[in-house]
Amino acid sequence: MNVKASSPILLFDSGVGGLTVYDALREVLPHAPVIYAADLAGLPYGTKTETQIATRVAGLLGRMAERYQPRLACIACNTASTIALGMVRDVLEIPVVGTVPAIKPAAALTRTGTIGLVGTEATIRQAYVDDLEARFGNGTRLLRVAAPGLVAAAEAKLRGHPVDPAIIADVHARLTAMPGAADIDTLVLACTHFPLLSDELTAAFGDNVRQVDGAAGIARRIAHLLEGQSFAATGPNRFIVTGPLAGAAGLEAALAARGFGPPEAF
Ligand code: DGL
Repeated sequence: MNVKASSPILLFDSGVGGLTVYDALREVLPHAPVIYAADLAGLPYGTKTETQIATRVAGLLGRMAERYQPRLACIACNTASTIALGMVRDVLEIPVVGTVPAIKPAAALTRTGTIGLVGTEATIRQAYVDDLEARFGNGTRLLRVAAPGLVAAAEAKLRGHPVDPAIIADVHARLTAMPGAADIDTLVLACTHFPLLSDELTAAFGDNVRQVDGAAGIARRIAHLLEGQSFAATGPNRFIVTGPLAGAAGLEAALAARGFGPPEAF
């Protein structure tokens, strides 16, 4: 494929969570033009049904690929990836990279053999996660907990609002109440929003519980797929939102720090 140097990488999430993948991507491909699309009109995905998520994500990515002509799309969202990755690959003619819970690296790191996994309600019930556990869990015990409150907390934090400690305490309480949870030494952050709360999670779970997410691995995968291609940005990276532009209010500082231009409506 003959790719134009100005052709962007499209990163897609329901909200700001995929910025954790964006940050990792900029470490490995600092000059690659990026369009980040936040489906704020569809946020949150984690409480939606499989059908709602799959049709929404495949439909939007199809339209976005047509409009922005990206060289590669990354679904920077575990919920959307574990449900709709196959469908999106069927729709797009470019490489599509998904974001799936980092069970494999966590299984390699755990010493106790007990791993906690925090994700959205939709993610933790996916057969995709059962399959990752069976293939890469390596006999470890995986305790899954849904933490929908963390998505809103991460969105608020990036807009400069304080994180409600009760939300973190609730996730901690529900996970540590599970049988065997005392042995957890590794925590999979199975939602791209959650690394934005790593300080708060460390305060709750302690320094001895290592947090693992997939961002760096996904960034390396994207760089590998684009090896040999050239990059020439024609302006700042773009931050696109679905729904009213007002949904991006408060994100100015977080976006400017990451080299984005002002938010744009899709
Ligand atoms: N950032 C998304 C993920 O990785 C989900 C957030 C949502 O519920 O919309 O799962």
